[in-house]
Amino acid sequence: MKIQAPITAQETALEVQFQAKVDAEQRIEPKDWMPEAYRKTLIRQISQHAHSEIVGMLPEGNWITRAPSLKRKQILLAKVQDEAGHGLYLYAAAETLGIGRDQLIEELHSGKAKYSSIFNYPTISWADIGAIGWLVDGAAILNQIPICRCSYGPYARAMVRICKEESFHQRQGFEILLTLAQGSDAQRAMAQDAINRWYWPAVMMFGPSDGDSQHSEQSMRWKIKRFSNDELRQRFVDMIAEQIKVLGLTVPDPELKWNAERGHYDFGPIDWDEFWNVVKGNGPCNKERLRTRVQAYEQGAWVREAASAYARKKAAKA
Ligand code: 3HC
Repeated sequence: MKIQAPITAQETALEVQFQAKVDAEQRIEPKDWMPEAYRKTLIRQISQHAHSEIVGMLPEGNWITRAPSLKRKQILLAKVQDEAGHGLYLYAAAETLGIGRDQLIEELHSGKAKYSSIFNYPTISWADIGAIGWLVDGAAILNQIPICRCSYGPYARAMVRICKEESFHQRQGFEILLTLAQGSDAQRAMAQDAINRWYWPAVMMFGPSDGDSQHSEQSMRWKIKRFSNDELRQRFVDMIAEQIKVLGLTVPDPELKWNAERGHYDFGPIDWDEFWNVVKGNGPCNKERLRTRVQAYEQGAWVREAASAYARKKAAKA
C-alpha cells in the first residue's frame, strides 16, 4: 500500500510556496517546482496559441499573390512571416514545460488540439486582409498584452516581441481599410462587407462568457490570465466603437450604444451556437485549414530529415 500522506503534505507546502511566489509577482521558470495542473494549463494554452499563429497564416497567405500592389504584397508577406515566427517562439516556450514539438503538432493535425476559432473563416476579398489586421490582430493584442505579465517566464518573455509585431499588424489592417473607405463606392462597400463578416467572429475570439469559461478562475489565480474573457471583450468593443468612426463605416450591431453609467458601450447578443460550432470543427474552413497544415508538414518531411542527418553527422565528427 502506498503511503501518500507525507507526499501530500510536502506537495501542499510546495504549492503554498509556489502561490506565494506568484502572488508576489515573481516569475516561475522552467526548472522551478510547479503544480502539475499549472504545467498542463500552460501547455494547453501556449500550444493552442502557437497553433493559432501557424494556422492563422493561412487565411492571409491566400492573398499574398493577389495583393493589389508590390508594396502591399511586401507588407503582407512580412506579416505572415511574423506569424510563423510567433508560432515558433511559442512552441519553444511550450517545450520548456517538458513536451515535445512533435507531439504538439501531432495533436493539431489529428484535430485533438484547439486553435483560435477566428481562423476558420474564409478571406474572400482584399478588404478581408484589412479587417483581419484591424479586428483580429486588434483583439489579439488586447488579449496578449496582459500575457507579457504572465507568471510563467518563457511565455511572458515571448509575448513582448509578439505584441510589438501585432501592434504593427493592427495598424496596417486599419490603414488598408482607411484607404478603401476613402476610395470608390465599390471599395467602400468592400470594406463594409469585410467588417460585417469579421466583426462578430472577432468579438467571439475572447472565448466563452465568464460564467461558461471553465479555466479562467484558476488561470487568474495563477496569474496566467490577468483579465477575464468578458473584461477583454468589453475593451475590444469600446476600442472598435471609437475607431470605426474614423473609417466612417459601421459595425453590424444595431444594439451598440454608449452607456454613460457604465462608462462602456453596450452591445448585442453573441451567437454562442456559432462559436461552439466553429470550435468543434464545423466552421466554414476547419477541414480545409487542417488539411493544408497536414499537407505542408508532409511536404516538409525532407527538410526535417536533412536537418537531423546533418546534426547526426556533426555530432559524430565532434
Ligand atoms: N477558439 C477556440 N477555442 C477557444 C476559444 C477560441 N476563440 N476561446 C476559448 N476556447 C476554448 C478554450 O481553449 C477551452 O478549451 P479547452 O479546455 O479544450 O482547452 C474552452 O474554449 C473554454 O474556454 P476558457 O475561457 O475556459 O479557456 P482559457 O482560459 O484558456 O481562455 C483564451 C481562452 C482567452 C483564448 C486563452 O487561452 C488565451 O488567452 N490564450 C492565449 C492567446 C491565444 O491563444 N490567442 C489566439 C489567437 S492568436 C492570434 O490571434 C494570432 C494573431 O497573429 C492574430
